[in-house]
Amino acid sequence: MIANTWDPALYDGRHAFVTHAGQALLDLLDARPDERVLDLGCGTGHHVAQLAARGARVIGVDADPTMIDAARAAHPGLDFRVGDGARFEVEVAQDAVFSNAALHWMREPDAVIARVRAALRPGGRFVAEMGGHGNIAAIIAAARDAAREVAGVTLAPAWYFPTLGEQAARLEAGGFRIHAAWWFERPTPLEGEAGMTNWLRMFGGGLWGGVPEGALAEVVTLTEQRLRNTTLHVEGRWVADYCRLRFVAVKA
Ligand code: BEZ
Repeated sequence: MIANTWDPALYDGRHAFVTHAGQALLDLLDARPDERVLDLGCGTGHHVAQLAARGARVIGVDADPTMIDAARAAHPGLDFRVGDGARFEVEVAQDAVFSNAALHWMREPDAVIARVRAALRPGGRFVAEMGGHGNIAAIIAAARDAAREVAGVTLAPAWYFPTLGEQAARLEAGGFRIHAAWWFERPTPLEGEAGMTNWLRMFGGGLWGGVPEGALAEVVTLTEQRLRNTTLHVEGRWVADYCRLRFVAVKA
């Protein structure tokens, strides 16, 4: 089993699109000064800093201590905590929980929804974007073929990419009312000729479970080769086949 290991510098450098893509979600959240907002899966803390700059009282929570260390170093004075989405608690009710590109890493969606609800005041909002059904389907298919061919391993990707209907049903069952929800494709450019290889290395922890360490480099190389002849590689430019699920839900 190869766990995902986060490299905060790589995440902020070559994968800065994760943060940039969150701008529209911040607009949707529209945090007002003095609102209490919790960023679930805050990574290196850029959105926490942006929310704080707008006057919100923000807490950043992330399960990865390396990310939290990097967030604290980059944004001293802001409130960052190591916490698991399915188990975190806060001492004061929040006006909003925000989450960008993080919920699909959390494998207990009902427990996450329950913790978010517990963290919110009545009427508080849960504004999130995550990988939706069909997300990175071509990347997963190529990786599956490569892992089978090189290592005889059947991959079982660790992510949770629900349909809009499934996520809405979970939110409603968990005590939320859906105010708006969208599923959409967002082809995402990856930087440079090594863009796909870098992506596979950076995020592959959710993909490569079961691949022996010694076979991993070859599996990544073959995955990249297979994708070279697809619509994800056009005129030398790499694109990841992202599909997003975005929603605004309110604690009922
Ligand atoms: C995503 O944001 O959709 C994503 C990122 C890394 C791995 C899997 C999905």
